[in-house]
Amino acid sequence: MEKSAAERGESRAANRIEVVQADITKLAVDAIVNAANTSLLGGGGVDGAIHRAAGPELVAECRLLGGCRTGQAKITPGFRLPARYIIHTVGPVWNGGGQGEPELLASCYRGCFVFVREHGLRTVAFPAISCGVYGYPIDEAVAIAVREVRTGLSENAEIEKVIFACFENEVYEAYQRALR
Ligand code: APR
Repeated sequence: MEKSAAERGESRAANRIEVVQADITKLAVDAIVNAANTSLLGGGGVDGAIHRAAGPELVAECRLLGGCRTGQAKITPGFRLPARYIIHTVGPVWNGGGQGEPELLASCYRGCFVFVREHGLRTVAFPAISCGVYGYPIDEAVAIAVREVRTGLSENAEIEKVIFACFENEVYEAYQRALR
């Protein structure tokens, strides 16, 4: 039975998504995404790791950006990282789900894909945005991430690979379940 276009599209997206247990700062991809805060001046979690690995030029560059609103994204060079660019996005703090958190989290992923298209990027790695300090329930955040990444891939055939870089096993398992 010939596969439908939708099935072919789905399978194409499926083999362009990878889930790895990795420190995102080590990935030699076109861009890594940073789960930042509205100041863009660094913090803990993946934000702290990225700033430490990228070096002091990063915070100097971020100072010129004038911060970033929740749900929005901004791009900088990767400086000392193996990645060429860093796309900084600010996920929502989880407040029970009734304050637009799902839409804001989805908006983070969509904003990243705008930069991916503008810069013709082919490989991009995402951390589990909002799943740490910001307390977003992991399965719900991962479902949004997978949905938005599948959409982003279907809208931009130039992207070769999207990597979900998981630090914790719980997050890795959640992505594996969501992608099954
Ligand atoms: N590589 C990949 N993932 C990582 C890394 C790393 N080096 N370090 C942490 N993570 C994971 C966390 O385990 C979590 O699953 O990234 C996910 C996001 O967690 P946070 O970094 O806490 O980000 P978030 O929940 O979006 O909170 C953002 O935390 O670090 C501060 O400045 C940041 O105020 C902002 C807030």
